[in-house]
Amino acid sequence: MTQAAPLIDVDVPLPLPPKTLSKAEKDAYFEQISALLTKHNAVLIAHYYTDPEIQALAEETGGFVGDSLEMAKFGARHPADTLIIAGVRFMGETAKILSPEKRVLMPTLEATCSLDLGCPADQFEAFCNQHPDRTVVVYANTSAAVKAKADWVITSSIAVDVVEYLDKKGEKLIWGPDRHLGRYIQNKTGADMILWQGHCIVHDEFKFKALEQTKALHPDAAVLVHPESPESVINLADVVGSTSQLIKATQTLPQKKVIVATDKGIFYKMQQAAPDKELIIAPTAGEGATCRSCAHCPWMKMNVLENVSTVFDRNDNEIFVDADLAQAALKPLTKMVEFTSR
Ligand code: 13P
Ligand code: SF4
Repeated sequence: MTQAAPLIDVDVPLPLPPKTLSKAEKDAYFEQISALLTKHNAVLIAHYYTDPEIQALAEETGGFVGDSLEMAKFGARHPADTLIIAGVRFMGETAKILSPEKRVLMPTLEATCSLDLGCPADQFEAFCNQHPDRTVVVYANTSAAVKAKADWVITSSIAVDVVEYLDKKGEKLIWGPDRHLGRYIQNKTGADMILWQGHCIVHDEFKFKALEQTKALHPDAAVLVHPESPESVINLADVVGSTSQLIKATQTLPQKKVIVATDKGIFYKMQQAAPDKELIIAPTAGEGATCRSCAHCPWMKMNVLENVSTVFDRNDNEIFVDADLAQAALKPLTKMVEFTSR
């Protein structure tokens, strides 16, 4: 039986779009940043949702582009003294908790996430306290303080597998914060879950009716959906999966066209993996609806060449995590990493 937590509305301050750079300006930034990374024995780790030039920079400088789980694992095993995390705040915190001896810098600490904002640690703790018999499973897209209250931390790439494992052991769960991902996992596994009512401002905007119309326009296309999307949109999917799983599907599916319901930053890697495929972004507006994020995360977009180039010069962009919180959050994070190495 499912009981839902009360809906928390997040007031999302959307940042201004970054300025467009010429090719010469971009080349100059690449050269400068590459030299700085070498000088500081640092490595750049970027998420698939950052802008193409940030992903290209990470690749060209020997860094890494990946999903949130892969970023965490790469940072923990890389020998660099300093990790530059181009993504959002929870990714920087996770990197610091897994590698406390390393310096973790971010292009801007203002890059956050509506799931993190929509799950304040004190309110989440009060919610968990109402159900003390339940195992607490939280998404990686949360603050260190929320992770510190969890039994398990998971990402979308392992969510179904971990919940299946816990369900088989007879455990009843609290899940937070993403309500759509929670519902999806529940439908897939049949697990007994109580859901926190958070949402991602990017995926929540994909529209069922408009997607049906896009499908009708491209009947030969496969539909790929990230499970942070609404249930009605997930029901139209040929493949549902995490960012890495969707990139893999683009490569392996026989269709030459794919309609993609996730952040369009992912197109950079999808096109690299499958250069012959046509990529179509799923609609976030239509039928009178407008979009706020319009399929690109406003916080991921805050990572720009300009603030990467000054990442070593400022004193407002280093990640620090309170030692007690870090110790508590490390336990469920370690379970997450170990689960994938089984
Ligand atoms: P994954 O990279 O784990 O699929 O996460 C998606 C996401 O929304 C990250 O912000
Ligand atoms: Fe958060 Fe959604 Fe942005 Fe990912 S895409 S960081 S889940 S708001």
